[in-house]
This record gives sequence, C-alpha cells and structure tokens, in this order.
Amino acid sequence: MARGKAKDGDGNWKKFIWNSEKKEFLGRTGGSWFKILLFYLIFYGCLAGIFIGTIQVMLLTISEFEPKYQDRVAPPGLTQIPQVLKTEISFSASDSKSYEMYVKAINQFLLTYSDEQQMGNVAFEDCGEVPSSYKDRGEYKASQGRKNVCKFKRDWLGNCSGIHDPTYGYKDGKPCLIIKLNRVMGFKPKPPQNSSLPEDLVGKFHENIIPIHCAGKKEEDVSKLGTVEYYGLGGLPGFPLQYYPYYGKKLQPDYRQPLVAVQFTNLTFDTEVRIECKAYGENIQYSDKDRFQGRFDVKFDIKSS
Ligand SMILES: *[C@@H]1O[C@H](CO)[C@@H](O)[C@H](O)[C@H]1NC(C)=O
Ligand SMILES: *[C@@H]1O[C@H](CO)[C@@H](O)[C@H](O)[C@H]1NC(C)=O
Ligand SMILES: *[C@@H]1O[C@H](CO)[C@@H](O)[C@H](O)[C@H]1NC(C)=O
Repeated sequence: MARGKAKDGDGNWKKFIWNSEKKEFLGRTGGSWFKILLFYLIFYGCLAGIFIGTIQVMLLTISEFEPKYQDRVAPPGLTQIPQVLKTEISFSASDSKSYEMYVKAINQFLLTYSDEQQMGNVAFEDCGEVPSSYKDRGEYKASQGRKNVCKFKRDWLGNCSGIHDPTYGYKDGKPCLIIKLNRVMGFKPKPPQNSSLPEDLVGKFHENIIPIHCAGKKEEDVSKLGTVEYYGLGGLPGFPLQYYPYYGKKLQPDYRQPLVAVQFTNLTFDTEVRIECKAYGENIQYSDKDRFQGRFDVKFDIKSS
C-alpha cells in the first residue's frame, strides 16, 4: 500500500518538473519562462544601470588623488616613538632589559630610514641638507605617474640615529625620542611668526622649518628637565618644508616623513618628569579634546639603580 502511494507521489513530482503533455517545465511553458527571464533581465539591468550611473557621477566630482575638502583637512597630530602606554617611559639605565622595548620600537620605526631602504633609483631624490621651501610636484593626478620623494637620512638624527649608540642614549639615562608630524595629504604646514615662539627657539629660527620644542609641563618639571638636544636636517630642531606637501599613498608610496629627534641629556632621576613637546606653525593648532594635535606629552621616570 504504502509503496504504491510513494510511487504515485514520485510520478507527480516528475510530472511537475517536466510535464510532457502540456510541455511545461516546473509548471510553466517555455514562453512563460522566457517572459519571466526577460523581465528580470531588464529589471536588474536597470537597477545596475542606476547604481553604476550614480557612482560614476560621484567619481566625477571627486578625485582619488586630490583631497576634495582642502579646508577641512584634519590638523596634523604629533607622534613620538617609542609610543608608550600611558605616555610613561620608565627604565633604569643600568638594566638593559628595562629599556629594551623602547630601543626595539625605535629600531623598528627607523628601519625604513636606512640608506638601503631609500636607494630606489626612481623614487628617491636628494632634497638638500638645508631646509628649503615646499616642493610642489604638480597636480594630484595619476596620469603623470608616481612622484618622487625626498630622502631623509638617518644620520641627521645625530646621537639619536642609533648609528653610534644602538641604545639611543638609554644606556646612559639620556633617552631619545623620535618625533614625526602625521602625514596629511596636501597639507602645507606654515612656519610660525618669529614673535610667537618660545624664547629657547628664537635663536634657532629658520624660515623653512616647522620647529619643535619640548619643555617641562608644569612649573615643578622645568628644573628637572635639564638640557634638551635636538637633531634634524641641517642640525635644526624642526621639520623642513621641502618634504611637503605629501601627495598621498598612491602617488608617493615611498614617502618618508621628515623626523626630529630629541634627547634629554640631564633629566633628574628617581622622580617623574612631565614633558610636553610642541610643533609650532601658523596652521598647526592644539586642541583640548585631542591631546596629540600638534603636541604630545610624555612622562619620564628614570631609576638610578
Ligand atoms: C653626542 O655624543 C657624543 C658622545 O657621547 C658627545 O660627545 C656629544 O657631545 C654628543 N652630541 C651632542 C650634540 O650632545
Ligand atoms: C627672529 O628674531 C630674532 C631675534 O629676535 C632675529 O635675530 C631674527 O632676525 C628674526 N628672524 C626673522 C626672520 O624675523
Ligand atoms: C645637570 O643638572 C644638574 C642639576 O639638576 C646640574 O647641577 C648639572 O650642572 C647639569 N649638568 C649639565 C651637564 O648640564
């Protein structure tokens, strides 16, 4: 009984797939299927057309190479290497394990600044050993191909280059920090007015750099800070303008940000010293909300034993 029923059902099912009497496939005739397919073909074709059209119109108004809203570029952040948790750098000069992580972080960061990493015969360009004005490299268009970038030599970082002292001063309790201005496509940092600079910087003024200055954060930190040495291109404490503007990842995939290194050579040991480093420029702002916009804080706590 049951077997017969099953056979019956089987037959219906087959009939549903292909009904030879009515010439129907899955319950529809060939003509009906054709109409349905045609309808969906046109329907989805139109949807795709509208979609592609909208995207094309969007793309016409923006260029992937040029920032559309120049006036709204985020003000650049200032970053220090090593980047540390809670911005505290704490170590003992006599214990190499205690500063190993800082040295590693700097090593890692400076890898791309070695001479070998800037050898490419096409991309890298010598932009001089003195700061000079912006290097405009034409339009932000792919048609001209990739654009050159300026070399930045590691040995300009002097005692913080790691070349003579592979611990970047940490073994002597004279720690180095490497400072960079975060890249912002198309941004041309404007040097500050001479008059608005901190006193220490006035003598080192150069019209083609964005100067960096580090100082004790509070009154009580000032006397503990000691001497600060700066190393950068031309021996100047700042970012030279010929490295700007940056043309973006596509046009300048090998871009090297200019660096400044600072070394704290006479920090007071066994106490916390809070330091604030700032970049100075007419279009470099600071914000209370974003503590890394144009400046950063760091806290040193160096143990004497
Ligand atoms: C760099 O280090 C050497 C050796 O320790 C020292 O003699 C020299 O004064 C340092 N340079 C600066 C600018 O501090
Ligand atoms: C900046 O100020 C210093 C000291 O007041 C002065 O010697 C120097 O000529 C000034 N530089 C410019 C570009 O105004
Ligand atoms: C380092 O600082 C101490 C005071 O904290 C000072 O007596 C000493 O002269 C300074 N050394 C140098 C080389 O500036």
